[in-house]
This record gives sequence, structure tokens and C-alpha cells, in this order.
Amino acid sequence: MIAASEIAAALPKTLDTTDHATLGLPRGWPLYEGKVRDNYSLPDGRRLIVTTDRISAFDRVLGTLPLKGQILNRLSAWWFEQTRDVAPNHVISVPDPQALLAKECKPLPVEMVVRAYITGVTSTSIWTAYSTGERVFCGHRLPDGLKKNDRLPEPILTPSTKAEHGGHDQSASRAEILASGVVSEAHFDRAAELAHALFRRGAEICEKRGWILVDTKYEFGVDPSGEVIVIDEVHTPDSSRFWFAGTYAERQARSEEPESFDKEYVRRWLTSVGFKGDGPIPALPDDVRVEASRRYAAAYEAIVGEAFVPDLDAPLVRLQRNLSALHG
Ligand SMILES: Nc1ncnc2c1ncn2[C@@H]1O[C@H](COP(=O)(O)OP(=O)(O)OP(=O)(O)O)[C@@H](O)[C@H]1O
Ligand SMILES: [Mg+2]
Repeated sequence: MIAASEIAAALPKTLDTTDHATLGLPRGWPLYEGKVRDNYSLPDGRRLIVTTDRISAFDRVLGTLPLKGQILNRLSAWWFEQTRDVAPNHVISVPDPQALLAKECKPLPVEMVVRAYITGVTSTSIWTAYSTGERVFCGHRLPDGLKKNDRLPEPILTPSTKAEHGGHDQSASRAEILASGVVSEAHFDRAAELAHALFRRGAEICEKRGWILVDTKYEFGVDPSGEVIVIDEVHTPDSSRFWFAGTYAERQARSEEPESFDKEYVRRWLTSVGFKGDGPIPALPDDVRVEASRRYAAAYEAIVGEAFVPDLDAPLVRLQRNLSALHG
């Protein structure tokens, strides 16, 4: 397991922002800055996705975590490889520990969320709705008598419409999404089928390693040949919740929160200092950033089953070098 001191050594080398000049890329490549990833569109239909070290929660960028970009990018690439036989994806190659070269697609404007457990604390979460008496969530009828963090009878799809920059996503049923006309029935149903197949495979692999895949979010796009494929990232701690299976049952019996390794750590710290998602963001102290990264690395190791060996080169210099082959 990577030592906290090794992570701390990477603190001065976090990658916050990129641009054409710092990456040495042609100025003509359109840049889309997401909350976590900087996306450059090549003229030939490829998309360069640089996973920075930014961390987002509450739909806001909260700062950076050392090594986070390479942990996420490598973990996601690993999952794409593990799931390519059940769902075609956008990966072309992994030119750098924190960059992915992908097929540029037309993204479907819905996030496909799959949930196997009833949990969450935010106003839009399934547990919040259930605990206030709702028994239908995104078109799914939920049985009475569930308690927080219980397993659902089967994994359910709870899609949400993708909000524009800065907005909050809104959950909806299949019927509501189709009625809104943002996506065709054929595309939606294909994406739903792939989402369930990905989730089954993900849950199976996590289970073998002693983890529960609790819930996750997928994005899909239509590639130039018209096929619906998985884009973005798959089964990372940013897009998914994982609980430790070994202690789940006993903790659940005592109504204690499951052991998890996900963004909850940073969310909990922010909540502990009174932050609720609005107003100025408290600066994350270095010890919190290091511990958060340690959890990302632990997630990588627990899932992949191999030690996470960080690349400690200065990220911009390394990216420039590794990406130089993409342009003349
Ligand atoms: N292969 C692909 N083709 C087209 N778009 C993609 C592809 N893979 C990912 N994307 C999009 O690129 C962006 C990735 O960046 P990131 O995840 O940081 O953004 P985000 O902040 O989640 O997104 P947004 O600001 O759009 O809500 C997302 O908008 C995602 O939908
Ligand atoms: Mg995203």
C-alpha cells in the first residue's frame, strides 16, 4: 500500500488546470473544461481526455488531490478493459497515466445511474425520497420496510437529465425522459441495457475482491457509426459508491454506516466544518487531501488487486512528452 509520505511528496505536483500552451497542443483543438477532466477534440474524430487532480462534490470543484488524476484514469481504463466484452466503449489508448485517447461521440444528455442499495443523504438521493414516504422512485415501485443502506430487491436504473455547466442533475423515470424528447427510445433502451450489463459485471468483480458496488453513474454516446457506446469513466470512486463487504451485514444489523472508500470522506470533512454545498468553499487542509488520496489509491488496489505505483514525474512535462505523438 502506498505510504502517506509518498502521497504527500506529490502535493506540490498536483495538476489543477491545463491548456494548449502548457500541454504543447495545437491551438485549433477545441477545449472543453469539465469539472474534473480537460477535453481536447482532435480534428480526426478523436478526443483527448486529461484527468486533472481536481476533485468535485456538490457539483462544484473543491480543490485538488495529489495523484488523483492518475489513479482515476488508470482505474477507469482498467474497468473499460474488464467490461469491453459486455459493453463497447470509447477507449482508443492510454497515452499517459492521466490521459485517455477516446472516440469522440455525441453524448446522450442523460446520466444512467444504477443503484443496488437504498442510500444517500442529499436532497435528490433515493434514501431521502424513501424516508419521506415516497414509494415510487424514477418509476420503480419500492417495497415497504426498507431501512437506510438496505439492498434493493434488484438493481434499478434511475436516470437523470444532464444539467448544463453548474446546474444540478434531476432524476426522472424512463417515461419522463422519453416524454421530454431529449433522447430517442432506441438510444435510451440500448444505453439502459448496457448500463445493467456493466453493473452486473462490475458488481461481480467487486464481490470477488470483497467489495460491494453500491451505485454508479454511466454516460453513453453515439459513435460515428451510430452505435451506442460507453463514454466518460467507469466504476471509479468519483462515479460510484463502494462498501466493504466483510463488515456490511454486521454494521447494517447495528444500523451503523457501512465502511466505504469514496468521495464521502471529503464530503464528510466539508460537512463537519459546516459546508453544505453553497457559498465559499473551505480550503482542504493538506492532511485531508493526503488522506483522501490514500483512499483513492486504496480503492484502486482493492479493485485491481495490484499495488498502485505512482508516476511521480512533473505531470505537465510528462503529458507534453507523452502527447507529442498526437500532433506533428
Ligand atoms: N468519448 C466522448 N465523447 C464525447 N464526450 C465525452 C466523451 N467522454 C466523455 N465526454 C464528456 O466529457 C466531459 C468529461 O469531463 P468531466 O467529467 O470533468 O465533466 P463534468 O464536469 O462531469 O461534465 P459537465 O461539466 O459537462 O457536466 C463530460 O461532459 C462527458 O460527458
Ligand atoms: Mg463527469
